[in-house]
Formats: sequence, C-alpha cells, structure tokens
Amino acid sequence: MFVSDCLGINEKGRLTIGGYDTVDAAQKFGTPAYVFDEAEIRRNCRDFVGSINENYDGNGMVLFASKAFCCKEMCRICAEEGMGLDVVSGGELFTALSVKFPAEKIYFHGNNKTPDELKQAVASNVGRIVVDNIFELESLDKIARDAGKTVEILFRIKPGIDAHTHDFVKTGQIDSKFGFALETGEAMQAVKKALTMENLKLVGIHCHIGSQIFDIDPFELAARVMLEFMAQVKAETGLELAVLNLGGGFGIKYLQTDRPRPFADYMKKVSVIVKEYSAELGLKTPFIIIEPGRSIVGAAGITLYTVGAVKKIPDVRTYISVDGGMGDNPRYILYQSHYEVICANKANEPRECTATVAGKCCESGDLIQEWTSVQRVEPGDTLAVLSTGAYNYSMASNYNRICRPPVVFVKDGEARVVVKRETYEDIAHNDI
Ligand code: LLP
Repeated sequence: MFVSDCLGINEKGRLTIGGYDTVDAAQKFGTPAYVFDEAEIRRNCRDFVGSINENYDGNGMVLFASKAFCCKEMCRICAEEGMGLDVVSGGELFTALSVKFPAEKIYFHGNNKTPDELKQAVASNVGRIVVDNIFELESLDKIARDAGKTVEILFRIKPGIDAHTHDFVKTGQIDSKFGFALETGEAMQAVKKALTMENLKLVGIHCHIGSQIFDIDPFELAARVMLEFMAQVKAETGLELAVLNLGGGFGIKYLQTDRPRPFADYMKKVSVIVKEYSAELGLKTPFIIIEPGRSIVGAAGITLYTVGAVKKIPDVRTYISVDGGMGDNPRYILYQSHYEVICANKANEPRECTATVAGKCCESGDLIQEWTSVQRVEPGDTLAVLSTGAYNYSMASNYNRICRPPVVFVKDGEARVVVKRETYEDIAHNDI
C-alpha cells in the first residue's frame, strides 16, 4: 500500500514506521524530524550481502555509500552488518573512524581529495584509495612515500555509459569530472604510470554509472566494458587486476508507480556476466565490490513535519506550509524529485486534495512537492514525506539559519535519537 514495507496504518488510523506511531514520534521528538526504521535498513544490508554470497560465492564486498546518509550510528550498523564503507571526504572518514569502523574496509573516493584528506587517509590506513586523476596519483605516491607506506589503490574509470537516460546510450561520457576516460587512452596511461610508482599498488578499477537506475542492462554493459579494460591491462602490462568495483546506483521506490528490480536480480545477472566474461577473456574471476547508498536507506526513512498555514489561492493552487523545507530536503528544488506525502494523523482517509507542500524558507523555490495528492489537512496536522532516508539528512543545510532536524531510529517498538536536533547555539557556534 505504501512505497515501503516498513510503513503501515495503526488502529488509530495513523501512519506507522517500523510499527511506531508517527504522530507519537512527532510529539515526542518535535518536528521536523527524520525517522528511520532500523530493521528495514538492516534488512537491506543483509539483502545486498546475502546476494553476493549466494550468487558470487561470497567473493565480494558491499560498501555502504555513506554520502547517502552518514552519521555515527549508521557507520556502527554497517560495521555490525559486515559491510565496508565508501567515503568521499575527510568528514565522512572522520565520522567512520570515530566509531572505530574497521579502516581496512573503508574506500576513499572523490575527484579532488585535498592533500590533507589524502594524508588523513594514509595515516589511518584506509583499505583502498580510489584514485581519480594523474595529479592525485602523483600526490598520493609522495604522501605514501613520506609516510613510509605502500598504499593500495583503484582507478576510477569512465566506462562511457550514460545510464541517466531511460534508454541508456553508450556515448562519449568523456565530459564528466569523475575518473579516467577509456576512449582517449588516458586510463591505460595512468595504469602504466602507476606501475612505476614504488609506494602505490594498483589492485583494481572502479566505475559508477549513475543513480536511481531501474534497468539492469546498463550495469551489465558497464561490467563488460570494465572487464575488457582489465583484459587490455593484462595484455599490455602483464598486470592482472584483482578487484572490480561496479559502484552503486540501484533505484528505489519514491512513488507507487516506481518499479525497482529486486537487488537479487541485479546480482544474479551481473554475477553470471562477470564470471563468464572474465573466463572468456582469460582473466581470473575478480573480487567484486558494489556501493549501494540510496537503496540501503532511502525507503527506510521518512520526514515528519507539522502543518502551519494552508493557503488556498482560488483557481491557482493550495499551498500547505510546513515547519521545514529545502533546508532538510533540497532534492525537489535541485532535481524536481518526486515524493509521496501522507497526513500522518489521517492516514486512512482518502487523499482527495491536490496541493503543493511548501517550506518555510525565504525562497519561492522552497517547495517539497508540487501538485501532490494528500488528505484534507489543517494547521497542526502531522505531514509525512516518504522515502526521504537517502540524500536528505546528508544534503541538509542551515539556510535562513534554520536548525537541522534530529534523526530518530525506531527499533523493536522503541524510538531513540541518533542525531540530536541542532540548536541556535550550534548554528552560531563558530561565529566570532
Ligand atoms: N559510489 C559512487 C562512486 C557514487 O558516486 C555514488 C553516488 C554511489 C556509490 C551511491 O549511489 P546510490 O546507490 O546512492 O545511487 N544527491 C543525489 C545523488 C548523488 C549520487 C552521487 N553518487 C540525489 O539526491 O539523488
């Protein structure tokens, strides 16, 4: 009935998440608030880990792309679920290390890691650094030499697949700020250069073809292109790369009409391709890595707001104003992303109104959803926006000096705060 199995309606006709009454949550923790079902997060983790075990004989690892939702408790959960972590900044790395996340299971990504970030990564012995460009390759070699270490690296490759269009097309894609291009020979030159570097050990290659992808075909194609490059590397240099990281990007359900494929389908198909094609190319079966972010946390989280003014503009539209907005969810203003909206305290009433949910920021574009179906709401109602678990908290800002909401986890009928609500003191803390 809802976009996520962790949502329901209780005997009071209220929306529940993980069985917890969302109106009670709004009262207890205040609004706006991000609320997650921990069981759903863990189920998703286990689905991913399990499907690698089942389809690929466990010869791989799942990294949670922490950019989707990074906080200490999420890092703890990933560690408990036996996953690794993809970090893209010193801040994400710091958060993971601060809860003693096993450093060897951390992969450091990014197209412009600063010298300080690289030093921090080398000093903390992160598992592998995914090198994006020649400048970084040279800087990292020097940093590793100064630290007296040998650092294992992967190269980020642009496989030339654009999965953002519905019918994916294999095009140039040279025009991306991320990684080494295959077409220009740049990737092969980088491999040859890496082989001359004493403090770096190239162990594999990585690609990421996009996000919120429903089709499996582009992933298959990416796997093939990457294996072909591995074969070319072997032929030209004798180096057999052991690791193939295929990135993340698996789509989730934001609307009832979205039809994401079960992750097991993806892993089944891609495993067959990788096993068969690597054999055909004369390569050993590589250790495979995948990096889901959105699909682990997206549908496990919702945002709760309190309705303020309801402005009906005759013959134009109805604005429902809430006590949050683009500060806690910038995805509509950035990408016109779709979400379902439910009045949590009237969840079993029909959604017979069409309205626009507006935030409280001083900005006309500060909307969370336009022309969406919702129950008849009035001031004081609790409004839930669904599937906000990914890239909402992590992309939140303090625009208008509005405090960022807390993050609440529900588990076994209990709710606990895992990130506190910001205070005005927090916001002004660094002001001098
Ligand atoms: N690996 C790499 C190298 C990535 O760049 C990303 C996402 C992921 C993994 C995880 O992708 P996912 O499984 O979450 O699709 N802010 C945007 C999404 C940006 C994704 C950036 N990279 C949004 O809110 O939709």
